[in-house]
Amino acid sequence: MKRLEQDIKTVATFVDETKPGWTRRPFTLWYKKAREWLMEQMHSINMEVSIDAASNVIGSIKGSHHDLPPIMIGSHLDTVTGGGRFDGIIGVLGGLEVVRILKEKGIQLRHSLEIVDFTAEEPSEFGISTIGSRGMVGNLTEEMLRRNDSSGLILRDAIREAGGRPDDIMKMVRKKGDIALYLELHIEQGPVLEQMNHKLGIVTGIVGIHRYRVIVEGKPNHAGTTPMNMRQDALTASSEIILQLEAICRKQYEEPVVGTVGKVTVEPNAANVIPGKVSFELEVRSIEKKLIQAIMQELIKFGDDLSKRRNVKITFDCLSQSEPIRVDPSIQQIIEKSCMSFAPSMKLPSGAGHDANQIATIAPIGMIFVPSRDGRSHCPEEWTDFKDVALGVHALAQSIITFDQCI
Ligand code: GLV
Ligand code: MN
Ligand code: MN
Repeated sequence: MKRLEQDIKTVATFVDETKPGWTRRPFTLWYKKAREWLMEQMHSINMEVSIDAASNVIGSIKGSHHDLPPIMIGSHLDTVTGGGRFDGIIGVLGGLEVVRILKEKGIQLRHSLEIVDFTAEEPSEFGISTIGSRGMVGNLTEEMLRRNDSSGLILRDAIREAGGRPDDIMKMVRKKGDIALYLELHIEQGPVLEQMNHKLGIVTGIVGIHRYRVIVEGKPNHAGTTPMNMRQDALTASSEIILQLEAICRKQYEEPVVGTVGKVTVEPNAANVIPGKVSFELEVRSIEKKLIQAIMQELIKFGDDLSKRRNVKITFDCLSQSEPIRVDPSIQQIIEKSCMSFAPSMKLPSGAGHDANQIATIAPIGMIFVPSRDGRSHCPEEWTDFKDVALGVHALAQSIITFDQCI
């Protein structure tokens, strides 16, 4: 699988070198270059290449039965800032490799096969993740398309510049029955496979993610002359909310829950000024939607009380919600059989969100995980041995061959 290794290394050259790790943010020059390279690769193995209305890059090969809906393999080439070389990338490049494997084996599937690089899977500057897969299934709303990033760029225009047709997104959405099956190969992004000494993971379900922007408005003032009991400090108030989120999520529930604040902006952000305004993004994840909702309710109530106690204004705006999904046991069974024929495998849930969450709203989905060294991801240290990625690709190819006959 030297070819796949080389492809991963090539994509790792399309990065913003002013940022740490292997950073390829969506809608940037580096992203564009990586996608151009991807489309060249698709062309070189005689795939039909297109960019859909939501600007997803799609390579397809025809199946023998034209009346069957396609099987789809997908993931994403964008990364978080300071991200690694594997998250999302192996799902797209692995799909390409499956096409090559099928060609080399002389196999024509009954179903057409589509390999998709979904636009902007990671949280974007527009406060939304999974932009392309949302667009494909009709979950990218007008309100979302109107959002702008900090430079004033509107999402609608960003999609157009990436080759999409924002006005057609709703007309072109795929509906139930339009995709026979969606499969995604991904790194685990956690420590379980490595610790259990398993090479492949069969995903049983994927957490839902609810994201909020919280804005806390106090009063900026002189840090030396304003007594402690006369302050309206937006940052200390925000800290209380952040710690409260941690405390609520640490409680014992019937399913695991995690809550994170990973992005904070302080204004005016000066050593001798009491912070007047803080805006931060928080997310809560669980496989149980009701749990996420209950936690957010409790936190918003805490925020209400806090705003009176500290004399600050607090608003919670929901930025996005992706729903948790459970993978159909019959799909898990077929994937498990394929995985087991290549390497020791186990079932596990996904704590990371994926494009699969969106596609699951219209089609059956399945996912295969490969191990992440030390469980690291969303950081430059993210690593998976190339031979493990190759195992995942073979299991993916074998799963597709089996599903092609029985769906
Ligand atoms: C996607 O990488 C996520 O945030 O889970
Ligand atoms: Mn990611
Ligand atoms: Mn990913």
